[in-house]
Amino acid sequence: MAFSKKHILGLGELSAEEIKIILDTAESMKEISTRDVKKVPTLKGRTIVNLFFEPSTRTRSSFEIAEKRLSADVLSFSASQSSIVKGESLLDTARNFEAMGASIMVIRHGMSGAPFVLARQISASVINAGDGSHEHPSQALIDIFTIREKKGRIEGLDVLIVGDILNSRVARSNIFGLRKLGARVRIVGPATIVPEYFRDMGAEIFYSLEHALENVDVVIMLRVQSERKTLEYFPSLREYSGLYGLTREKLRLAKEDVIVMHPGPINRGVELTSEIADDPGAVILEQVANGIAVRMAMIYLVALGESL
Ligand code: CP
Repeated sequence: MAFSKKHILGLGELSAEEIKIILDTAESMKEISTRDVKKVPTLKGRTIVNLFFEPSTRTRSSFEIAEKRLSADVLSFSASQSSIVKGESLLDTARNFEAMGASIMVIRHGMSGAPFVLARQISASVINAGDGSHEHPSQALIDIFTIREKKGRIEGLDVLIVGDILNSRVARSNIFGLRKLGARVRIVGPATIVPEYFRDMGAEIFYSLEHALENVDVVIMLRVQSERKTLEYFPSLREYSGLYGLTREKLRLAKEDVIVMHPGPINRGVELTSEIADDPGAVILEQVANGIAVRMAMIYLVALGESL
């Protein structure tokens, strides 16, 4: 089967086969990063714009590195430094970049659905780099790629996602992707931020971190998102970290070879202790490193489907 998508907007709309193609392509892309000259001419002459309407360290930088490794011409745009502050709309902004020759747009936006709206109204390919509380497909693909690399498979694994499920685009994308590839997914957090409707997506709901951790292969910790008002859903950060913060003692309830993941940025002492974050069982910086290969794969595959 060939990959035939013009856009990558979310894992909810990708099939298991399409997800596997991205993961397999990312493996080949990872090899490029081991070379002395970490660059291939694949996208020479193409222009890619990174439209960032929300802050980002990892996603923006690694998309930019990925695009440069594929030899594309790259322009990174910050809404706060642009004519958006003078009232120009998202669509007009995107159309101006199209007029300058951009054929792929990577967009992060605070509004859930913004990349979908853009994809319907412009000719360029669109890659979702995180939209509101909806989806963060590149992060979930990185997480799934890293799990497959560490465990050799996805099918049959028990994966636990901890924390602010309600506001988490990372959780949504991971649940879609992991379930499609045959993993069992547990979610845990305070009842106010773990909605019942996640059962319909195939996740098993827990409210006790200790119960949820029993025998899991992978733990994905989520950031408490103060910018999405998560702090209003429980009495205090101290109570949250007491009940849902990951410590070495709690982690003993998981499988012996458990891996701990976090999409970043991490709040040390809130979601997890520094002892856990810096432990060899934590693969947080490996996720970041894999981000380049996974995003190279996404850009390459979308470029193949540009004419669709
Ligand atoms: N994981 C992630 O999306 O991090 P940034 O917000 O720094 O891009």
